[in-house]
Amino acid sequence: MPKTAFITGVTGQDGAYLAEFLLKKGYIVHGLKRRSSSLNTDRIDHLYLDPHAKNPNFVLHYGDLTDSTNLIRIIQEIQPDEIYNLAAMSHVKVSFDTPEYTANADGIGTLRILEAIRLLGLSQKTRFYQASTSELYGLVQEVPQTERTPFYPRSPYAAAKLYGYWITVNYREAYNIFASNGILFNHESPIRGETFVTRKITRAVSKIALGMQDTLFLGNLSAKRDWGHAKDFVKAMYLILQHDTPDDFVIATGKTTEVREFVRMAFREAGAEIEFKGQGVEEIGIIASSTGEFAEKLRVGSTVVRIDPRYFRPTEVDLLIGNPQKAKDLLGWEPKYDLAMIVKDMMESDLKLMTKDKYLKDGGFNVHNYFE
Ligand code: NAP
Ligand code: GDD
Repeated sequence: MPKTAFITGVTGQDGAYLAEFLLKKGYIVHGLKRRSSSLNTDRIDHLYLDPHAKNPNFVLHYGDLTDSTNLIRIIQEIQPDEIYNLAAMSHVKVSFDTPEYTANADGIGTLRILEAIRLLGLSQKTRFYQASTSELYGLVQEVPQTERTPFYPRSPYAAAKLYGYWITVNYREAYNIFASNGILFNHESPIRGETFVTRKITRAVSKIALGMQDTLFLGNLSAKRDWGHAKDFVKAMYLILQHDTPDDFVIATGKTTEVREFVRMAFREAGAEIEFKGQGVEEIGIIASSTGEFAEKLRVGSTVVRIDPRYFRPTEVDLLIGNPQKAKDLLGWEPKYDLAMIVKDMMESDLKLMTKDKYLKDGGFNVHNYFE
């Protein structure tokens, strides 16, 4: 019998990669999708089958993490072997604007699923994965961060995820549910949400290189993140649920890089070297040299990066760097992508997207098989 997985957040970056990954492993995959007035399934359209097809292996259900009755009904119907709880209001800056909703969806939403597993008598059948985050470390108490590093959340998002983390541990200990946390550090890809900093940068650099935009406005350029590729990270989620015992794992690359350096790397992919000058909100990024296909638009001396304080956060997480040794030792997990490969992957994709007629007309993007 093929295994059945239920993925919340299936329309997001990780949900899309994970769905494709599990389908390739022969799973039947059910996904939770929110109703929206415009289509929100771009990332998974290539996986979707006509609902009238016989025995489809990929099925979408309308629902929301803030609605327990709907979660209970869907989980009862599916009787999943594995649940991956990836749904969340996942933007740290936006969580300062919507703190109560973020707590409801990201914190209590986790509890709702765990309670559904318990109430439906699935405690011994269903394995549960919680999308925990390196944001839990916030004002870091130790460098690098491990599974034993104390948490110090610095945003409503991180505080909500802190609840999600501990309620997962509690249901494991109280009810013997196979419930595990993946403490994932930042992971990116060509289908990363457009307002996270890496994708904002690769999209803007592509547009600047093509003469469609003049300036990229950013917030804190000095923040450091441990950036991996989402493809590597969804494999870790799967491995966490295949382990003999439920446990919590840091998933990271072990290297950290400044936002400023990510900007340099992205422009380099388009053929330009950026020099940063000035301090604080007056800091600017100027094109120091350029060669190749886009040199005409990437004019030497032009200012292409500026600071906009609106992107600063009331409390910032300055430095994240994880130690994934436990995942390497116990799960045999090893990332394939380094940051240079990630930037290349994202820049190649965004340069292509920006030149596509379809993209220019309606903002759609190309659909591909992620693991091919
Ligand atoms: P994402 O692209 O923002 O996707 C989030 C998903 O959650 C989307 O499918 C979204 O639906 C859905 N969602 C949001 N609120 C919901 C609600 N109330 N009910 C049901 N679905 C809801 O995030 P991601 O980057 O794939 O991350 C996946 C998970 O890992 C998130 O929980 C995130 O917090 C966590 N995480 C991410 C990273 C990272 O670097 N990417 C690192 C650590 C942890 P719509 O498409 O309708 O918006
Ligand atoms: N989004 C954004 N936009 N961030 C900026 C900008 C900007 O214009 N300028 C500088 N930054 C800085 C942020 O202040 C932060 O320090 C860093 O870039 C990364 O920001 P994001 O890409 O928004 O990601 P994040 O680290 O806050 O959160 C992501 O990673 C977490 C794991 O550590 C999200 O995916 C979270 O859901 C995830 O838990």
